[in-house]
Formats: sequence, C-alpha cells, structure tokens
Amino acid sequence: MTEVAFTPRVFSGIQPSGGLTLGNYLGALKRFAKAQDQGIETIYCMVDLHAITVWQDPEKLRHATRELCAGFIASGLDPEKSILFNQSQVAEHAQLAWIFNCVARMGWMKRMTQFKDKAGKNAENASLGLFGYPALMAADILVYHATHVPVGEDQKQHLELTRDIATKFNHDYGVDFFPITEPVIEGAATRVMSLRDGSKKMSKSDPSDMSRINLTDDADTIAKKIRKAKTDPEPLPSDADGLADRPEARNLINIYAALSDQSVDQVMAELGGKAFSEFKPVLADLAVAQMAPISAEMSRLMQDPSEIDRILANGADRARAIAAPILKKTYEIIGMVGA
Ligand code: TRP
Repeated sequence: MTEVAFTPRVFSGIQPSGGLTLGNYLGALKRFAKAQDQGIETIYCMVDLHAITVWQDPEKLRHATRELCAGFIASGLDPEKSILFNQSQVAEHAQLAWIFNCVARMGWMKRMTQFKDKAGKNAENASLGLFGYPALMAADILVYHATHVPVGEDQKQHLELTRDIATKFNHDYGVDFFPITEPVIEGAATRVMSLRDGSKKMSKSDPSDMSRINLTDDADTIAKKIRKAKTDPEPLPSDADGLADRPEARNLINIYAALSDQSVDQVMAELGGKAFSEFKPVLADLAVAQMAPISAEMSRLMQDPSEIDRILANGADRARAIAAPILKKTYEIIGMVGA
C-alpha cells in the first residue's frame, strides 16, 4: 500500500445541549480560534445528531444550536475563515455513520467508557443512538478526511476508535482512503475546574451556578463569581510545585494562565506569594476584560436568529462540498451501484 499524504485539516464538534462555560471557552473555543488563525483549514460542527442520543426538547435544541453558533463567533471564529455548521444539515455524516456501523465491532463499542457512564445503571433503556454515538463521531471526522481533531481528554477513547475504524476500513477494502487522525488532546493543566470544588470539572450541569462562569454571564456576575470562588487560607505558593495539593489555588492560577496566554511558571513568577485578596481582583479584572465582550457579542448575535441560520446554512453548503465527493468515493469502494 502506498502512503497517501493528506492535507492538514482540523475538525471538531461540540454538542448543542445548552450552557457554554469558561471551560468550553478555554478548553475548546479559544483553541479552535487559534487553529483558524494559523491558516489551517478548520471545520467546526454543532453536533445536533449527537445531542439527540439523549432526550432534547425541540425548542431548546433549536435555541442551544443557535446559541452555540453565537458562542463560536463571539469567541473569535470567523464564519468566512472557518466552516461553521450544524451536523444535521449535512446528511453525509449520517450516511457515513451507517457504513461505519457495519465496520465497527460490537466488542469495540461495548468497551466505550462514555457509553457506560452516560447509560448508567439502566443501559437497557439507553437509545441505540447513544451506543452508536462513537461511529457517528468517526463519520464526522472522516467524512472530511480530517487529520487533526482537538478535543478534551474524555474524548481520547472515541478518537482511538476513529483510528480503528479507519484502519479496518482501509484494510478490509485494500485501500489507503481514510487518514489515521491525530488527536490533539487538551492538557490536564488547562482543564477548568469548578469554582466551588477544585477537584470537579466546571460543568453546566452543576446545581450551583456559582461553580461556573457561563459564556452568557455579564461583567458583574463574572467578577462576583471570581470574588466568591473557594480558596484555602494560605497565600499563593511561591512556585508551581506548591500548587500540587491545592486544587482551588491551582485552578484559579490555571484560569489566569490560560486567559493571559502564559505558562503557569510565568504566572507564578508574577503572582507567587500574594494573598488571595490581592490575586482575586487581578483575576477578576482579566476575566471580565476577556469574557464580558464575548457574552455581549453573543447576546447581540442572538437578537438576529435568521442571520445565525444563514451562517449555518452557508457553512453546511461548504461542508457538503467537501463531504459529498468523499462519501461518493466511499460508496464506490464498497460496491454501491450508482455511486
Ligand atoms: N463527542 C464530542 C464531545 O462530547 C463531540 C463530538 C462529536 C466531536 N463529533 C465530534 C468532537 C467529532 C470531535 C470530533 O465532546
């Protein structure tokens, strides 16, 4: 088999299941914008077909999809430079997913830890779509021959499955058609934790709104949440090593580092030894300066949903132009008449 060189192409997806947080911004959206600004081809998808693997109220799903699109744009994604669209508008995703359902093995799918976590005790009552979720995710990526996929640590296993599906397809049909995608995993250091408990991930589903900064929070709310964030009684340590057993201090320092595009060592050189009463106002100012314009831009964009719909439809057209020939070629390879 000859090695085919695939042009670099970044793809990633976020579920429109409502509620974007600072964690989504620093872990995903900000990185997505960076990739875009490096001049690489970037495709970002609101994965509504994935969202419905668990129940979604139709009106809320529509709203969450538009709000996610507004969040992308407010975070610096330019719908001219990147392709922004919602998954269901490009039927090729679902079509390739079916083929991958026939490539992936039951044994592979049963090992997926996210299914086990999400299905919980009552797996018999989970949707078949939730079980097949990773095959659709593989289709999302491979229908564009994407080479790089930025995701959080929790998606690592799904990306390994994507590589397994590509490898088995290429092997079964004796082709070098699908690329073996590189995961670009977000480091644990940039994971944003709850403002109330430094050992838990910041989450839109935490019952306490004080545990997170929402992308829709205004300046006063952001500042208040930082001011009230849980800390310990000691001042900040003098260097990064001193953060090891201090999850809340580490989280706030990580947030500061990510917002200011510095390493934790750089931040500690600047702020090490300071009391929280000194550090928190500095962090609050920085968070407000960066996040308040995003929430303002999101609410401005949400006032004109038809403009958002137009952006998504345009993105879908551009996405389809890439996906359709790849799906057609896939059909040819597997022996579908008429492809
Ligand atoms: N499963 C991803 C998540 O929950 C979302 C997703 C769907 C995705 N399809 C994708 C991410 C393709 C990267 C590439 O975070």
